[in-house]
Amino acid sequence: MTIKNALTLAKSSLNTHKEEAVFILCEYLQKDRTWLFLNENKEFNEKPYFKLIKRFKKGVPFEYLFKKANFYGLDFKIKKGILIPRYDSEILLLKICEIYKKYKPKKILEIGFGSGILSIILAKKFNCKITACDISKRALKMAKKNAKIHQVSHLINFVLMDFKKIKGNFDFIFSNPPYIKNTYKLDKWVLSEPKKALYGGVRGYEILQDIIDFSYKKRVKFLACEFGHDQKEILKKILKKKHFKAEFFKDENNFDRVFYAINTK
Ligand SMILES: C[S@@+](CC[C@H](N)C(=O)[O-])C[C@H]1O[C@@H](n2cnc3c(N)ncnc32)[C@H](O)[C@@H]1O
Repeated sequence: MTIKNALTLAKSSLNTHKEEAVFILCEYLQKDRTWLFLNENKEFNEKPYFKLIKRFKKGVPFEYLFKKANFYGLDFKIKKGILIPRYDSEILLLKICEIYKKYKPKKILEIGFGSGILSIILAKKFNCKITACDISKRALKMAKKNAKIHQVSHLINFVLMDFKKIKGNFDFIFSNPPYIKNTYKLDKWVLSEPKKALYGGVRGYEILQDIIDFSYKKRVKFLACEFGHDQKEILKKILKKKHFKAEFFKDENNFDRVFYAINTK
């Protein structure tokens, strides 16, 4: 089949996700869009391509099809069972970097490392040591693999543990925790991601509240977290109660998505 015909067929079967037909073909052929355009009458073996389209249509996200994700311009390995890095989390990453540059905290903890993106980039940029915890065995394996690829394995101590059981003290904690309400209806591509990485509880912000409590008890100086667009007011109250002075930051769509708090006690 020619590239042009395959794309027409794939696009019509994907309806609302026509662009993905192009992304998937680029990735399958390892070519860019310009090449596809200039070679649209070229014949290729279309069977594996349509198998990928079928799996995507069933709800397998692009990143799980090709076992890789791009975040902050860097490539990371990913597979089913681990949260796919989101572009939105770059706001949290930028705030984490700002805190690091300004205060140079010595003892750093990430809660919920997933594929390892945040700790790996922070360690790569500043050559700093980090402890990072997660409750997912799959995430542990993948984060270690990603740290090796990015040559920061010697800087990050990945531990398989619920953050509430972590011993020791920290100056700086950061986290992109699960914060979606248990009842929130997700689309089929997001539904194939791990529930424990997405859902935060009945109200959604329960794990964030636990992280703030934990940070208060541990006398943490700086805390930075990503949260849901409708959770600013409640988090403001919780942070104030625990003597954290917080600043909130919006995403490109003007939604509040990240806080950065300093312990005033
Ligand atoms: C939203 S994902 C974030 C992953 C990654 N940091 C990122 O930004 O792509 C949340 C992560 O928190 C982990 N998690 C959930 N509850 C946890 C807990 N009590 N202690 C430590 N990690 C937890 C999940 O397994 C998941 O990997």
